[in-house]
Amino acid sequence: MLNNKLYIKTWGCQMNEYDSSKIADIMKYKLNCQITKSVKDANILILNTCSVREKAQEKLFHQLGRWKILKKYNPEIIIGVGGCVASQEGKKILNRAYYVDIIFGPQTFHKLPQMIYKVRKFKKYLIDISFPKIEKFKFFPTTKTKNVSAFVSIIEGCSKYCTYCIVPYTRGKEISRPYKDIILEIQNLSTQGAKEIHLLGQNVNAYFYFDKKINKYYTFSKLLIKISKIKNIKRIRFTTSHPKNFTTELIETYKKLPKLVNFVHLPVQSGSDKILSLMKRRYNISEYIQIINKIKNIRPNIQIGSDFIVGFPGETKKDFENTISLILDLDLDMSFSFIYSPRPGTPASKMKDNISILEKKKRLYLLQYHIKEQTKKFSLKMLNTIQIILVEGISIQQNKYFGKTENNRIVFFTYKKNYIGKLVYIKILDTYIYSLYGKFISVCKN
Ligand code: SAH
Ligand code: SF4
Ligand code: F3S
Repeated sequence: MLNNKLYIKTWGCQMNEYDSSKIADIMKYKLNCQITKSVKDANILILNTCSVREKAQEKLFHQLGRWKILKKYNPEIIIGVGGCVASQEGKKILNRAYYVDIIFGPQTFHKLPQMIYKVRKFKKYLIDISFPKIEKFKFFPTTKTKNVSAFVSIIEGCSKYCTYCIVPYTRGKEISRPYKDIILEIQNLSTQGAKEIHLLGQNVNAYFYFDKKINKYYTFSKLLIKISKIKNIKRIRFTTSHPKNFTTELIETYKKLPKLVNFVHLPVQSGSDKILSLMKRRYNISEYIQIINKIKNIRPNIQIGSDFIVGFPGETKKDFENTISLILDLDLDMSFSFIYSPRPGTPASKMKDNISILEKKKRLYLLQYHIKEQTKKFSLKMLNTIQIILVEGISIQQNKYFGKTENNRIVFFTYKKNYIGKLVYIKILDTYIYSLYGKFISVCKN
């Protein structure tokens, strides 16, 4: 029997990382595949792509060009392209890379073992970039983890159709995973030692599941409450949430659940109502501010991170200044920011792009400068404070234990006893922007 060795390269968001880990699980389980970190050892090469911003296609063909050479020396190699570029481009990929064997999408990767079998048998390429109704989860083998923090996808796709974004076209419409399946997966992760659950989805707080059998519906808040009751789960995180779905019910949940971390990633994209409307974000700045204020009323020390797009068509200097003011007024913490990139087929790609690339770069530079200053400020504020860290492991490079604060800073510390998987108090003695160094104080009781 053929010795299957799989190499996976992943670009893109945490959802894509999650999908790649599931691809590896499925291939191990169904094809007895060994996973290798060396592309030269592999006979199955998978590229899990992202198309959210510029040059996605160029990057893809560049990478495929390198794999073409490997295939020339070993024609048995199977090359598969998945993810959002595969979903967007489909068969067109073959025009420039005829040697690709399999093209699959974010909702069809569970079919890979069968597709590989057919490609080997019939010696012909296969394409499946369809959006079957959330069926892939049924094919995942039971998750095995050694990690203290584990990702769990709860909702697939997106139905918001922001005018600049490719995601609804590449990942399909918003569909929530059955409630029971999510709980079962987390219970299983917890018995293996996971202490922190990081819920994933393009808009996790749009989660809504109706169980016809018992005529009951579950919102995101209900899901959070149920997860918090699972034995040994100490922390819950989620990415990404959308302001439109940040309901009063969800805000109130911060009162009830201390396990929900004191950090929310809530992308606003712009500080200008005019731009938000052109982006079709479905909220205005005053609504966004209201949400943040309500959360802060319940959790005064909570920190908020966001995403920003600069240089959206029609963005004036004044619009951009409003974005900077919002960052400072709301005291936003670590955030991501990007230059607007026209995506094929999206409504914004047809809008008149009236800003020079130089101006866009200047705006990005300025925005990132302010975000970095904010991040630094919050890290510095932590100096000499005592923080609760969930200890995740040992860093070989640093020869120290490491864990994360609730607001996503990595903390390194030395201690003679192994507290991996425990919440511990650490006094912060040294700060860098994203990482901190501290001294062990004691183990948390709860
Ligand atoms: N669902 C999330 C974001 C998903 S995409 C939300 O709505 O907030 C992640 C981030 O990529 C977005 O928040 C946005 O800032 C950025 N992004 C998406 N499309 C983009 C584009 N066409 N150009 C530049 N940045 C983009
Ligand atoms: Fe894209 Fe908007 Fe959906 Fe986020 S909410 S994934 S930005 S369409
Ligand atoms: Fe990229 Fe698709 Fe994620 S476009 S950001 S891999 S949803």
